[in-house]
Amino acid sequence: MKNIPFGKNSILLAPMAGITDSGFRRICCECGADFTFTEMISAKGLFYNDEKTKRLLNYSQFEQPISVQIFGSDKECIKYAVNYINIHYKPAAIDINMGCPAPKIFNNGDGCALMGKPDTAYEIIKAAKEISDFPVSVKFRSGINAKSINAAEFAKVCESAGADFITVHGRTRDQFYSGKSDLEIIKKVVESVHIPVVANGDITDFESAKAVLDCTHAYAVMVGRAALGNPNVFNQIKMMTPKQETAKKSDNIFEIAARHLQYSIDDKGEFQAVLEFRKHLLYYLKGIKNASVLKQMSCKAVSLSDCQRIFAAASENI
Ligand SMILES: Cc1cc2nc3c(=O)[nH]c(=O)nc-3n(C[C@H](O)[C@H](O)[C@H](O)COP(=O)(O)O)c2cc1C
Repeated sequence: MKNIPFGKNSILLAPMAGITDSGFRRICCECGADFTFTEMISAKGLFYNDEKTKRLLNYSQFEQPISVQIFGSDKECIKYAVNYINIHYKPAAIDINMGCPAPKIFNNGDGCALMGKPDTAYEIIKAAKEISDFPVSVKFRSGINAKSINAAEFAKVCESAGADFITVHGRTRDQFYSGKSDLEIIKKVVESVHIPVVANGDITDFESAKAVLDCTHAYAVMVGRAALGNPNVFNQIKMMTPKQETAKKSDNIFEIAARHLQYSIDDKGEFQAVLEFRKHLLYYLKGIKNASVLKQMSCKAVSLSDCQRIFAAASENI
C-alpha cells in the first residue's frame, strides 16, 4: 500500500507520554513491535525552541520504523513543527494527536478537542500534509463523549485533508481509559474511508488482537498498556500464545527488563534512567510472588546495581 510504512496485520507500539521513550521503544522492537511512535511532542514547544520538547524527538536506528507524534491546534506551530522534522529527522511518518483526553491538553483546544472542531482539524492536517516530506497520519478516539460519537465522520475529514492512514482508539474522551474500547465504532471507521485504519484499545494478547482484526477488518493493530511490564506481548501475539500463557510472567522477563534499563541508561545516563525506570519496575513486578518488598525497593532505586538486585530477587519468584 502506497505511503504506508508498515504491512497489513502489523502490530504497532502505541505512543504513551512518559513511557515510550527511546529505551522502551527499542526493547519493544526487539520483542516484535513492527512500528513505534515517539511520545507526543508539543508543536508549540518546538515553535518556541523548548529544549525539553526537542529532546523528545530523539530516536535511534533501533526503534525504527518510527513515527514522530506531534500535537497542537495552531496551524502555524504545526507547520513549524513539520518543517523542523523535515530538516532534522527522517521518520517513517508524522502523526498528529487528536485523541489526547488530558485536561491540560484538551482544555487548550488540542488533542481530542479537535474532534469537536473538524474544520480546524482539516486545516491542520492539510497544512501538515502539504509540507511534510513523510506520510502524515492522525490518531483519535471514538468521539468527545457518548452524545457526540463522530469517529466515522472525523475519519472522512482526515482522509479528505490528505491523511495517509489513521488510528482509532474506540473510547470517547470522557471515558479516558475506563469502560471498553468500542469495536463497532472502529468497524464503522474502516467502512467509511479508503485509507488504512489502525485499531487501538484493549489489545492485550493474541485472542484480543485477532478479535479486533476479525471484527473491524482494520489494516493493523496498536498495543499500548499491555506492553507495560511485558514488551514481549508483541512476540506473544505473533506466536499466537494463548491468553493464560501471556498473562503469566515469562521466565526471561527480568532479562528483558535488564536490557530495557540498559538501553535507557545508554540514552539518558544511569541516574536519570534509573529514576524513570522505577515506574517500569512496578509493572515488571506485577504478578510476581511476594513482590511487596521488591516494590518498596523499586521506589528507592537510584543505581543500576539497585535494579540488578531487584531483577535477581524477582527472577527467583517467577
Ligand atoms: C500513560 C499513557 C500515555 C499516553 N500517551 C499518549 C500519547 O502521548 N499520544 C497518544 O496518541 N496516545 C497516548 N496514550 C493513549 C495510547 O496511545 C492508547 O491509545 C491507549 O492507551 C489505548 O490503547 P491500549 O488499550 O492498548 O492501552 C497514552 C496512554 C497511556 C496509558
